[in-house]
Amino acid sequence: MKRTLGTCYYPEHWPRAMWQDDALRMRQAGLTWVRIGEFAWSRLEPSPGDYRFDWLDDAIDILGRAGLKVVLGTPTATPPRWMIDKHPDMLAVDAEGRTRKFGSRRHYCFSHEGYKRDCAVIVEKLAERYGRNPYVAAWQTDNEYGCHDTTISYSDAACVAFRKWLEGQYGDIATLNDKWGNVFWSMEYSSFDQIELPNLTVTEANPAHTLAFRRFSSDQVVAFNRLQVDILRAKTNAPIAHNYMGRITDFDHFKVGDDLDIASWDSYPLGFLEDRVGASADHQKRYARQGDPDFQAFHHDLYRAVGKGRWWVMEQQPGPVNWAPFNPEPLPGMVRLWTWEAFAHGAEAVCYFRWRQAPMAQEQMHAGMLRPDSADAPAIDEARQVAAELANSDAVAPAKAPVALIFDYDADASWAVQPHGDGLSYFSLVFGVYRALRMLGLSIDILPPTTRDFSGYELVAAPGLMHMPDALKQALATADTKVVVGPRSAARDDNMCIPDPLPPGLPDLDVTVARVESLRPDMSLPLSGGGQILGYREELEGTEPPVLLEETGRAVAVGNDRRIYVGGWLDTTGWKTLFRDLLKDDHALFDLPEGVRLRDTGRERFWFNFDVIEHEIEGVVLPPISVTRLEKTK
Ligand code: GAL
Repeated sequence: MKRTLGTCYYPEHWPRAMWQDDALRMRQAGLTWVRIGEFAWSRLEPSPGDYRFDWLDDAIDILGRAGLKVVLGTPTATPPRWMIDKHPDMLAVDAEGRTRKFGSRRHYCFSHEGYKRDCAVIVEKLAERYGRNPYVAAWQTDNEYGCHDTTISYSDAACVAFRKWLEGQYGDIATLNDKWGNVFWSMEYSSFDQIELPNLTVTEANPAHTLAFRRFSSDQVVAFNRLQVDILRAKTNAPIAHNYMGRITDFDHFKVGDDLDIASWDSYPLGFLEDRVGASADHQKRYARQGDPDFQAFHHDLYRAVGKGRWWVMEQQPGPVNWAPFNPEPLPGMVRLWTWEAFAHGAEAVCYFRWRQAPMAQEQMHAGMLRPDSADAPAIDEARQVAAELANSDAVAPAKAPVALIFDYDADASWAVQPHGDGLSYFSLVFGVYRALRMLGLSIDILPPTTRDFSGYELVAAPGLMHMPDALKQALATADTKVVVGPRSAARDDNMCIPDPLPPGLPDLDVTVARVESLRPDMSLPLSGGGQILGYREELEGTEPPVLLEETGRAVAVGNDRRIYVGGWLDTTGWKTLFRDLLKDDHALFDLPEGVRLRDTGRERFWFNFDVIEHEIEGVVLPPISVTRLEKTK
């Protein structure tokens, strides 16, 4: 498939007289896509029922006639001020019980029925008017669900909906009491109407209660998105996408993705490095102008799975952003590198955010492809270069990776509810495994936890899946592949209780987690072959022989050459040792420098050098900050 480029444009921010020239310059830069409309509600409906579509008609027409394909966003992430007058209780409420105010964006609670009705109306109007418009070639629902901590709301509307949801899940209150273990601290209820949201309790709420509320909140996002998709589908055949974010894990993207045609995400490598990778200060300094070498790739692989193969980067950082603690300029060549990295991982399109830097409001310090005075900014040159390279090269062919890594949003919620130690998160655990596998030169497919067929993979890793349904345990046990499970896998039942028999209860390994402990950051435990256990460790019982030892001789991982259970949080070196030993006989592995990664596609091997120095790997010379595309030799 031919890969394409695009940009995010806000015609409502600029005089109409500029639109034509903007459209032509986008085409001249080699762009195919232009996303518009996702924040424009106050211009589409300035007062209730007063619809103004003429300007959008013109914008779509001008962009389309210039040869661009439009991605039209539904504007529901930015309800106008009048909407708050209409529904004062539609605003989300934070965990401290404070109402979040109007004056930025995403100021709505997913559970407010009145707001949802009004969303349905505006989406219907847009679908009717543009569903068959030849220039509208794709749709985006809302914008970045969950961003700015907006999945969870402790509003009255959420409380009403949560009680109904619980009744649907548990049927009767006795069952809920039993499954949650509410006899503990006399927390038993006699009706669903007595159940409150799990905030502002004196000490921690029952983890079963908190997890249920997180699951409910995730389902509310799914329902909110589905409402829009159902309306759009009736009026358009164009594909529908949503733009997810980096490391926002508090709703189940696989479930939202089931209703969409394309998964897309917003990739801000430098912003993320400061804000959410969780790396050391040294690492942050070293990659301040390049971004983390694995963080974008991880999300590319994750969203490829969420989109069932069809995925885009809807927003690509083009220069300094405005929102991270520090906002450096990318090194020359990084915008191109990030773009090719996305294509190498299978992206259909990469769109730069945004076309022209805004001189006003919250994002005036955020770079665009153009400066506020319309002169070229550095990113447009790199986009032009990629456009020329795309035009002159073969399409990137997809390929199945040798290694699969399961990612489960529900496990992320379980860890968040009960981390057991400061800083222990499911995301960090899985990301650590991903980084180690990539440093061995492996390409990775991320899979949803509902996967039951693992054929074709050499290795499946399933760390940290707090709750593992029996069917998944069985599928992994019988899979004709190597399998690595743990730590903390199958540690809880579906309601956050310790199962009986004790975890992990795997059909193919005789191992029992007898006890667990969490460790202070200054208490790491050395492994015998190098590396350490960080933060969390389990005591393992059973008859399986050790495959990885602490320096003291105690087993941290047990099993055999096809099945391993890991009873501790390993650092990168520890994971690399474990995977190298497991795979070295059937796979050519590398020991890549910190800033070098590769990705195998159907016909090629892409090398990415994030470092400012040259590297040479098995005869392949990788210049500083570079993409090297080589035909595969076998
Ligand atoms: C994204 C968002 C955009 C813009 C951008 C700035 O998260 O979708 O609207 O705010 O960040 O980096």
